[in-house]
Amino acid sequence: MRLEYPYRTERFGAVRIHELQRVIEIDCGTQTYDDQLGPSRIISRDTIRDIEKDLVIVVPCMNEPRRVIEGVLSGIPHDCLIVLVSNSDRSPVDRYDMEIGALEQFCRLADRAALAVHQRDPGLASSLKAAGMPELLDEEGLVHNGKGEAMLVGMALAAMTGRKYVGYIDADNYIPGAVHEYCKVYAAGLAMVNSPYRMVRISWHSKPKVRDSRLFFSRRGRSSEITNEYLNRLLAEYSGFGTEAVVTGNAGEHALSLELGLKMRMAGGFAIEPFQFVELFEQFGGVLPAPDTDVMTSGVEVLQVESRNPHFHDNKGDDHVVSMRTQALNVIYHSSICPPSLREEIMEFLSAKEPPRERVYPAVGTLAFDRLYDGITSEAETFRQVVQRLPARVRTVTPMHRAT
Ligand code: GDD
Repeated sequence: MRLEYPYRTERFGAVRIHELQRVIEIDCGTQTYDDQLGPSRIISRDTIRDIEKDLVIVVPCMNEPRRVIEGVLSGIPHDCLIVLVSNSDRSPVDRYDMEIGALEQFCRLADRAALAVHQRDPGLASSLKAAGMPELLDEEGLVHNGKGEAMLVGMALAAMTGRKYVGYIDADNYIPGAVHEYCKVYAAGLAMVNSPYRMVRISWHSKPKVRDSRLFFSRRGRSSEITNEYLNRLLAEYSGFGTEAVVTGNAGEHALSLELGLKMRMAGGFAIEPFQFVELFEQFGGVLPAPDTDVMTSGVEVLQVESRNPHFHDNKGDDHVVSMRTQALNVIYHSSICPPSLREEIMEFLSAKEPPRERVYPAVGTLAFDRLYDGITSEAETFRQVVQRLPARVRTVTPMHRAT
């Protein structure tokens, strides 16, 4: 893959936010070297493959059509490990059962391994509680509904596979080629920077919509525009200079090193992505006392990459967009580093007195993984570990392991 080199970088303490870089070539051919010079960077196929072998792709899924899910699975590069976290209906039709059927069939045909669990499995809830995260449970004693919660569960499973990176791909993506490109971008971006604390966020090229019987490729999301604006305002309040550095405040498609991810608190629902920026600024921005000297020394690298494929997914309506935007503003408002003037503007924008707080959970790295492993493998009835049969069809690879 060949990516533009990001020359401009915004700093917030130890957090380096690189300006948007575009994909120049999705495939850069047979070049076997990684070019570190010039206006673009070549990340060779071998380098990308090495990262993919260490990359877990979590697919949060709630009631998406089987055909679409199958397309998503087919786009995830072979060496990545798939983790499906579902919150789909179990009745009147058991959609999770249908998803497991699709996943197992895919893995059998493609000789791959995968993990899957249902978010509302009582055994998953009790395992997470026993492992030290009772905050995740709602009044029914089950893991809260929400995409952020599914992503947290996915990261916890990823942490037990021994792999180093985790990326996220929505299950409602209609274009397998876009899924494939996003995963390649994750691997290329993760390979491009040196700090162990790295994150790659996708800014999709465009979203196709039908207008007056014609396809229209809209460039910006209605929620993202607002989220980015306010995150940039937060940055500018501290630097004293206006900025447009953040362009991926809502990026559902992103990947990060587990070394970083396990240290970050996570928000629930759709607050999860904007909260990642807030969390990085709070923990590593140098405004509040820094808990982690190693991260402060190495720095956190945030790459933002514009894909070539359009993002074609299910349109869930206007209320959904407004709710997503509101959740983003709520987390900025409630950040301990949000200045009073910005809070006032957010209140005005939301026409609310005091926006509600979003759910924020402790970092996944605080979990007792041995207890989590024991609980999930013995109590979570929906947990599936699809083993990979190696070509000889004698040996198998089991993806998840107990911490020793
Ligand atoms: N397991 C699980 N649990 N999955 C969920 C849940 C949940 O409670 N809620 C939604 N999902 C899944 C959906 O099935 C879909 O695959 C994915 O999460 C995204 O949810 P959507 O409801 O389709 O969100 P969206 O497409 O409008 O928004 C996406 O893009 C935004 C940026 O444009 C999401 O990725 C957002 O997080 C992102 O900010």
